Amino acid sequence: MRKGAVHAFYFSVAPSLFGDIAERLHGHGITDSQSRIVVEKPFGRDLESARALNTMLAQHFQEQQIYRIDHYLGKETVQNLMAVRFANILFEPLWNAQFIDHVQITVAETVGVAGRGSYYDKSGAIRDMVQNHMMQLLCLIAMEPPYHFDPNAVRDEKLKVIRALEPVEDSDIVRGQYQPDGKEPGYLEDAENPDSRTESYVAMKVRISNWRWQGTPFYLRTGKKLRARTSEIAITFKEPPHSIFDDTGAPRANELVIRLQPNEGMNLKVMIKEPGPGGMRLVQVPLDMSFADALGSEGADIPDAYERLIMDVIRGNQTLFMRGDEVEAAWAWTDPIISAWEDAKRRPEPYDAGSSGPEEALRLMHRDNRRWREIRA
Ligand code: BG6
Repeated sequence: MRKGAVHAFYFSVAPSLFGDIAERLHGHGITDSQSRIVVEKPFGRDLESARALNTMLAQHFQEQQIYRIDHYLGKETVQNLMAVRFANILFEPLWNAQFIDHVQITVAETVGVAGRGSYYDKSGAIRDMVQNHMMQLLCLIAMEPPYHFDPNAVRDEKLKVIRALEPVEDSDIVRGQYQPDGKEPGYLEDAENPDSRTESYVAMKVRISNWRWQGTPFYLRTGKKLRARTSEIAITFKEPPHSIFDDTGAPRANELVIRLQPNEGMNLKVMIKEPGPGGMRLVQVPLDMSFADALGSEGADIPDAYERLIMDVIRGNQTLFMRGDEVEAAWAWTDPIISAWEDAKRRPEPYDAGSSGPEEALRLMHRDNRRWREIRA
């Protein structure tokens, strides 16, 4: 080993090999207290296996040497959620159940699972996307301001959100499987498992039991083979408590949409007066900003998530990596959702490839007098 050099070991292998690799690296004296190991998801498939992995790695490495990657945290726009919230005075005073009606987090993909069906069929959307990527987005939107932008301060706040998540009722979750569309196979064929009950789509209503969010639901949805590839977070504020404009229709609720990918940017819908004579007519218009336009060439040149994360490993900055207790808390919340489904032995709802997901997911919203935002590129 070269003295003074940082050695990082990237375990891009099946989790079953993590323990042996850690042990050998240590046993052969290839690592020292400055070395770092990087482990990819899936970090376990439930709480028990995640705990076992944490214990195994802890035998040879300190927590500050372990970098658990969630590539969503490496995305510029995901980090930007913290900048928007904590570097502006504008939003934070309104960022709570008193002023926010609900939040929608959407990660829609157009790809199916062809080519990785055997992995995916053992995971499904909840293990593959919700327990990690969606959970991270939820935490960044819901967490309290950390006292400093420091790895443990940020991760402490995220952990508090995960611990405050209420169990999800069976009636608040919809699972789907994409169907064949004439040209391309459906999920069952892609997964090479005609009896599969694994979901390629999930939508759920999530509640956070704390002072800030009591009464404001978070609706999460993610799926494969949907109409468009788009990831966004939409915050719908409450309507003004009273309208002074009686002849022109009620003001509509403001909405802030943060587009994570593609066309990264933000859109804030505000009410203005429609120009022209004829009284005070109101209209809702977008304050729309794409980072590429606002920042010119710098905004267009968004680095890949992994580039950023690998640099952070070398710099020794763990802010954008999941801590062991955070991963365990996320599994502790998802485990009962997964086991309730396995026990119920139902089939996911079918949905057409290229659609917005199953009809049932629409009802999840309509029931609450709300509607999903349209999925479009
Ligand atoms: C991975 C999942 O972690 O994230 C994939 O295993 C998913 O199933 C991918 O397609 C989505 O990542 P991105 O960066 O394309 O949104």
